[in-house]
Parts: sequence; C-alpha cells; structure tokens
Amino acid sequence: MLRTILLGPPGAGKGTQAVKIVEKYHIPHISTGDIFRENIKKGTELGKKAQEYMNRGELVPDDLVIDIATTRLLEDDCKNGFLLDGFPRTVYQAEKLDAFLAANGMKLDKVIDIAVEKEELITRLTGRRVCKGCGASYHIVNIPSKQEGICDTCGGELFQRADDNVETVTNRIEVYNNQTMPLVDYYEKAGVIVHVDGAESLDNVFNAIVDALGE
Ligand code: AP5
Ligand code: MG
Ligand code: ZN
Repeated sequence: MLRTILLGPPGAGKGTQAVKIVEKYHIPHISTGDIFRENIKKGTELGKKAQEYMNRGELVPDDLVIDIATTRLLEDDCKNGFLLDGFPRTVYQAEKLDAFLAANGMKLDKVIDIAVEKEELITRLTGRRVCKGCGASYHIVNIPSKQEGICDTCGGELFQRADDNVETVTNRIEVYNNQTMPLVDYYEKAGVIVHVDGAESLDNVFNAIVDALGE
C-alpha cells in the first residue's frame, strides 16, 4: 500500500520519475496533465475547456480538476495505492483531496517534493520531446533518444508539447511559485513531506525517492 503525491515545478522530473516509481511499487500513475492532454486529443468538452488555460500556462479551474482526480481515485486499480502527479496544485485542491480521502477511509503516506532551480527548469522544458505513442519523455541534450525524433521503446514519433515554449514555461513557473508552492508548507505541517534534490541525475533522484518511500 502506497498513497503518494509528486510535488514540484514544471520540469522537475515528475513524469520521468513517475514511470520508474509505478514500475517498482505497482501503483497507478495519475497525472491530471496527461488526462487533460488525452481529452484535448479526443476533442472532448473537458479538453476544450482545459486547452485555453493550458496553452497560457495557467491552472485549469479547481472544480474541474478536483472532480476528475477524485473520480479517477475511486477506480479499482487505486485500491492498493496511487501516485498523483500534478495534483493537487492549489491549497483548495489539497483540502478537497484530504476531505475525499478521509471520507473514503484513506490516508496519504508521503508527499515527495522535487526541487530544481528556474534556469534548469527552462532548459529542461524547452528541450523536452515526448513520444506520441507511449508518452515517454526525452530531452534533446540530457536524455536523448538513440535515433533523433524516434522513441527508443515503441518507435513512436517525438513531438514538443504546445506549452513548452519559453513564454509559457516562464508563466508556468510563476504560476507554480504563486499557487502551488504553498503546498510545501501545507504538507510540511501534515508531517508527510520529504524533499528531494531534482537537479541530480535521473538515477540519483530515483534512489532518493526510494529511500524516502522505503523498499
Ligand atoms: P502537467 O502536465 O502536470 O505539467 P507540469 O506540472 O508543468 O509539469 P511537466 O509535465 O512539464 O514537468 P515534469 O515535472 O513532469 O517533468 P518531466 O519528467 O517531463 O500540467 C500541464 C498543465 O495542465 C498545467 O499547466 C495546467 O494548465 C493543467 N493542469 C494539470 N494539473 C492541474 C491541476 N491539478 N490543477 C490545475 N491545472 C492543472 O521532465 C522534464 C524534462 O526534463 C524532460 O525533457 C526530461 O527528459 C528531463 N529530465 C527529467 N529528469 C531529469 C534529470 N534528473 N536530469 C536531467 N534532465 C531531466
Ligand atoms: Mg509531467
Ligand atoms: Zn514511445
């Protein structure tokens, strides 16, 4: 049983670490950003509502997100735990999540706060490439695919996310600092937070996370 949250600014490596964490602990990876992007791809009403916010690097309104996340958490595969990535992102979302967990007899085990400084975040995000097929993340310099533009695992085409340009990235970091940072304090007070240096290599960050979560 492991109920955990990945907290950290855009580009901290949440999605990258999530892939490794869910493989080790056999829990589902729930990324609200991924859910929105799937909905945009499918052209759903939700996707249409979310898209304008995402393209500006703003947060999608709380009520929309909370509903989606809590509905997902009620699915069967979350019975033995879950890894939340990118949710909650405001104190209001965190309070609603707490209320939902309490009402369902669940408790958070750990919140992992991955910290990386701003310049590095911008470099990571503007150089990120994502696989159209399996969603794997690469970086043109840090973590390049073997063949340019092609995913190592599934052979899918790599693309750049619509919100990974310098202007939107800068706004996303600003939005994180203003609206999401207060969660560090929130979970500090709850006594569940652990801090991890996200500037380290992929493997070092993962090892620090495993140390925090336990084997
Ligand atoms: P979301 O999809 O959650 O994006 P984000 O929080 O901005 O985070 P990213 O996915 O950009 O970064 P990441 O930490 O996953 O980094 P990654 O591992 O890919 O949200 C998108 C939008 O959806 C939001 O802006 C908002 O509009 C909306 N939204 C979503 N959830 C919401 C919510 N709860 N409330 C309201 N709105 C919401 O890594 C980044 C790059 O770095 C990659 O290229 C990777 O290869 C590289 N890298 C990773 N680790 C390392 C390392 N250790 N060393 C070197 N390079 C590394
Ligand atoms: Mg991500
Ligand atoms: Zn792929």
